[in-house]
Amino acid sequence: MKRTLLTLFTLLLLAPAKADEGMWLPSLIAHRIGDMRAKGFRLTADDIYSINKASMKDAVVLFGGGCTGELISAEGLLLTNHHCGYDAIQSHSSVEHDYLTHGFWARAREEELPNKGLNVKFLVRMEEVTDRMAAGETAEEIVRQAEAEGRGYKARVEQMYYGNQQFLFVYQQFDDVRLVAAPPSSIGKFGGDTDNWIWPRHTGDFSVFRVYAGPDNQPAAYSPDNIPYRPRRHFAVSTKGVEEGDFTMIYGFPGNTQQYILSDVVKYIAETSDPMKIAIRTRRLGIIAEAQASDPALRICYAAKHATIANAWKKWQGEVLGIDRLGTYAKKLETERRFAEATGDGEVLQELKKEFARALPYYYTRELLAETLLTLAYGYTAEEKADPIFAEREAAERALYRQAFEEYAARNTLLPTIAEVAAGIEQAGSPAAYADRIFELAVADPKAEELTALKKGIAALHTRIVDELGTKSLRNFNSARMNELYARYVEGLRRWAAAEKREGAMFPDANLTLRVAYGKVAGYEYADGEYHKPLTTLDGIIAKDNPEIYDYDIPQSLRDLHATKDYGRWGVEIDGRRTVPVCFLATNHTTGGNSGSPILNARGELVGINFDRTWRSTMSDIEFDPTICRNIAVDIRYVLMVIDRIGGAGYLLDEMTLR
Ligand code: ARG
Ligand code: GLU
Repeated sequence: MKRTLLTLFTLLLLAPAKADEGMWLPSLIAHRIGDMRAKGFRLTADDIYSINKASMKDAVVLFGGGCTGELISAEGLLLTNHHCGYDAIQSHSSVEHDYLTHGFWARAREEELPNKGLNVKFLVRMEEVTDRMAAGETAEEIVRQAEAEGRGYKARVEQMYYGNQQFLFVYQQFDDVRLVAAPPSSIGKFGGDTDNWIWPRHTGDFSVFRVYAGPDNQPAAYSPDNIPYRPRRHFAVSTKGVEEGDFTMIYGFPGNTQQYILSDVVKYIAETSDPMKIAIRTRRLGIIAEAQASDPALRICYAAKHATIANAWKKWQGEVLGIDRLGTYAKKLETERRFAEATGDGEVLQELKKEFARALPYYYTRELLAETLLTLAYGYTAEEKADPIFAEREAAERALYRQAFEEYAARNTLLPTIAEVAAGIEQAGSPAAYADRIFELAVADPKAEELTALKKGIAALHTRIVDELGTKSLRNFNSARMNELYARYVEGLRRWAAAEKREGAMFPDANLTLRVAYGKVAGYEYADGEYHKPLTTLDGIIAKDNPEIYDYDIPQSLRDLHATKDYGRWGVEIDGRRTVPVCFLATNHTTGGNSGSPILNARGELVGINFDRTWRSTMSDIEFDPTICRNIAVDIRYVLMVIDRIGGAGYLLDEMTLR
């Protein structure tokens, strides 16, 4: 009895058997397919990933540097998020053609707009190369060989489980990707930063592109002679929609998770790192918001900056809350205790803890620099200064300089202060006075010796920290030495799992490689009596609509549509009223990078496009809680309706496979 209880406890602690947790490698999905089918999936492992026949993976792309996209026609039509296509949409926008504000709808192929620097990557195949590397082949050799196999091939060897496994990913990259359609921002970015990470949500976060290829259907640099790419596979689009409880699967490129970090690191994140970053950003956002409120021109000028700063700021708040709510630190401690007991390798944990304690001051200071002194440009271009808005910007910019130096001075408690900064503050009398001096130099004389020396000082500290940590990446709260130790620890965790017949229950941390996650459409009860329904509708948009509030000012065409209820085939009956579905929640385990990912039903048909999580889910990068962690998707029926009725681009629907 006691044994059973203990085993059960271990299972609960470590058990990724938790419903719907996991981001699985598509080539190994056979291990999960039984569970997927038990939950309602109707297709096979081969339908998801195959190198012998066309499979779903051939319809998914890494879009640009950090989003996902999916192919939805035999002629290269692609969907992703509005916020993923934002740069492209913005780059084609001008005062005369303001596609961000009014939307863009190419009326013919000739009107589709090419985008310099934008590419998409299809996964050709992935394979484990751990043995080849153990036998002496280098990653460079393996990559070179793979890239010689086909036109536009780009290969990478990626580490799984901190390097216990090496996987080769071979992609085919297409560089001619054209903008086909984008809704007005008042739909595509509806709710803006106010609603970001929030449920209930009403954002039509989609944009439409097309992949072009040479006449031989192979990758080619942009040319007017290129033709729409014919993909091996595209997703059929379901017009039937989803209901609570329906199976969903997400196929995309999650960027980064930290499932296996040490308890000490969890504590550092929740008690030091996130709170520091949140506090610094709260002040920064305050300065920027005040400037934005003072002048419409400043609102636009700082819009992108505000959105970027606010995005992670809000995410970290959810992370701290979630770690606290779940008791992740205590659970990790207990896992570590039981790991040591079960495997006899308590030493690896001791070593890890020792190394983390050594690395912490460097890690912390690196994060502090990134949030303070490294956010300043130490100069302004002639163009910026010539802009009439610059006089008004100055006050805000000066305040940002002051804030950066004040925060750095106040919070830099673990390493000696940069000599130039210490001397500068001493001489000026205070961090704010020194910041003023630096700001004035940045405006008047960016080449001034004092500025150059300061920048050198910051760079020198940065270099020293990178040397001490042995890694350039700020991503995983580790050092080169910790990475080695984690490899041993995680290998131990895997053997422990296998010994207890839980093999196949662990998944490698997300690292921007293609993954499958699955779950279902579901609401959640966050607290007693606080239930969130999983579906939102057009009525919710109308309820939020307010021409006075920038984030909630919808296009007149949407108001008119709602007034006439002339939704045509896109209208549905919900609770006895005629409306249009807009967004839905699901239990799929996702993270940044999953933006734009296809949400598929049990038959592999497209039912939504992923674009967010709820902010109270974001601890799922560290610990997933199936009861409240939810991803947010825009319902494909809303996407189709906007294309059809708002964009008047129904012809795009003709090339889709609607089911
Ligand atoms: N939170 C989403 C993500 O992490 C959406 C961000 C873009 N949208 C916004 N309102 N800032 O990327
Ligand atoms: N919006 C995020 C992205 O761009 C997805 C949200 C998240 O799950 O972190 O990938």
